[in-house]
Amino acid sequence: MYILGLNAYHGDSAACIFQDGKLIAAIEEERIRRVKHWAGFPSESIKFCLQECGISIEEVDHISISRDPSANIYKKITHSVKNFVSFKSLKDRLANTKKVSSIKTELAKLFNVNQDDIKAEIHNIEHHRSHMASAFFASPFEESAVLSIDGFGDFTSTMIGTGKDINIEVLDSVIYPHSVGVFYTAFTQYLGFENYGDEYKVMGLSPYGNPTLIDKVKDVLILKDNGLFEINTKYFKHPKEGVQMSWEDGDPFIENIYSEYMEEIFGKARVKDEALTQYHKDLASSIQKVTEDLVFHILNHLQKRTGLKNICIAGGVAQNSVLNGKILEHTTFENLYIPPAGHDAGTAIGSALWLYNHMQRNKRIQPMYHSYFGSKFSDDEVEEYLKLHNIIYTKYSDKELNDKITDCLIDAGVVGWFQGRAEFGPRALGHRSILADPTRDDAKEMLNLKIKKREPFRPFAPSILKEFVSQYFETVDSVPFMEKVFQFKEEKRNNLKAVVHVDGSGRLHSVDSEVEPKYYKLIETFYKKTGVPILLNTSFNENEPIVNTPAQAYACFARTKMDMVAIGNILIER
Ligand SMILES: [Fe+2]
Repeated sequence: MYILGLNAYHGDSAACIFQDGKLIAAIEEERIRRVKHWAGFPSESIKFCLQECGISIEEVDHISISRDPSANIYKKITHSVKNFVSFKSLKDRLANTKKVSSIKTELAKLFNVNQDDIKAEIHNIEHHRSHMASAFFASPFEESAVLSIDGFGDFTSTMIGTGKDINIEVLDSVIYPHSVGVFYTAFTQYLGFENYGDEYKVMGLSPYGNPTLIDKVKDVLILKDNGLFEINTKYFKHPKEGVQMSWEDGDPFIENIYSEYMEEIFGKARVKDEALTQYHKDLASSIQKVTEDLVFHILNHLQKRTGLKNICIAGGVAQNSVLNGKILEHTTFENLYIPPAGHDAGTAIGSALWLYNHMQRNKRIQPMYHSYFGSKFSDDEVEEYLKLHNIIYTKYSDKELNDKITDCLIDAGVVGWFQGRAEFGPRALGHRSILADPTRDDAKEMLNLKIKKREPFRPFAPSILKEFVSQYFETVDSVPFMEKVFQFKEEKRNNLKAVVHVDGSGRLHSVDSEVEPKYYKLIETFYKKTGVPILLNTSFNENEPIVNTPAQAYACFARTKMDMVAIGNILIER
């Protein structure tokens, strides 16, 4: 039985396919189309998923899509009438709604088949239920509290509930226009970071400031006694005027959400490329702090209400790894699970899991311990490509390869590491990564010079052998998806400047020998030579989505100053 899960007509469009409850493939449309956060109908991802299963669209039994146009319809109309939302904005929304309902037409066109031959039943699964399912049903927990928290999806921004075995029960939700995701995005725009998905830059900037503006920011986002929250609508444009958004065939776009009142209170917004002042840094710090306090507030109430010890979280706000790293310390929960794709792409998986477990009453198959469900290429395919383009390469054994690469890293090299199946989700976890020696004081400058010209305040991440987390970090936990930030131990910081952020923290990726043996062995080789069980790991890309194919990996190597690239056991040197 095949379920095709989709996130469509939304940022981070994606598709996945399950066979009898087992996830076979998952990919984000941006990887194939080469446009970050690509929004629209994920046609290329669907083709990839079917190909991985060796089936045609006619053989798919069910299609789940993580949107339900009918969800909260009464509330949508009431809000629009009460707030005189412009006719244009309503019309845009309706056009989008209609698209969601014509999936079969779209698929028939895509595969050039008769619409009646597509026998799959279409299931619209509400956005936040999809997020919740993406976390709970993929978690190792039999029972857990669940939180979904983001900007908006299906007119809702936050949902709390409980998961038990194959059921998820919704307890409460926060409805439009109130949203912590929108609060964070509005300030991200205000601080001059204008692209969709730039929120992580504010998170990266926050440790450079002090939360001196916290009282002012608390007037924008207000905690409520019921364990939820409201926004102060004066600071935003979306509640009354609506804002222009585009989710079609390309880069998602959201017009500035903050109002003139925001500028009256906080001063003139920063424009892109204007210098970042201490005020901007203090504001970033205050925004991050208020967001953290809000999430702890929600979680502590949820823990008390449910009495449960486990918590699963998904949604755009669950991408805030700084916040995630503090959850167990600041709440009464004892165990936390966040899936590798907590953002909207993950709702493709979540909608399918909601259908398979919650609706169709099937047993849960297995927890999701890795995210390697994307593209893959055999050595033969890689060699064929390289020969065709007259590219010189050498094929090595595992041991020789690890030796060559670690020697290069120690000698100030930067290496592309392209292995196995691509990660599903925004982070490179040792399959589509660029690596460097974390002990070099100049590693950051070296990377910025050779490959990535990015903001100097953004940190690079450490991949660390799992067994060494307790030696290097204040908190001991596994972090398989780079989803949590912990503090480095004071005495370790000096030797690891490239991966230690200004506040002493690190966005670690703990590498498990059973989950990722090849990457583990490489780091282990580096450890044997240097005494450091850590590599600097950044995503394999250069101002583009993470590379998806050997051709893209080679192109990135060729146009940057990367020293070598390993594609499987094939090594290309400069
Ligand atoms: Fe979402």
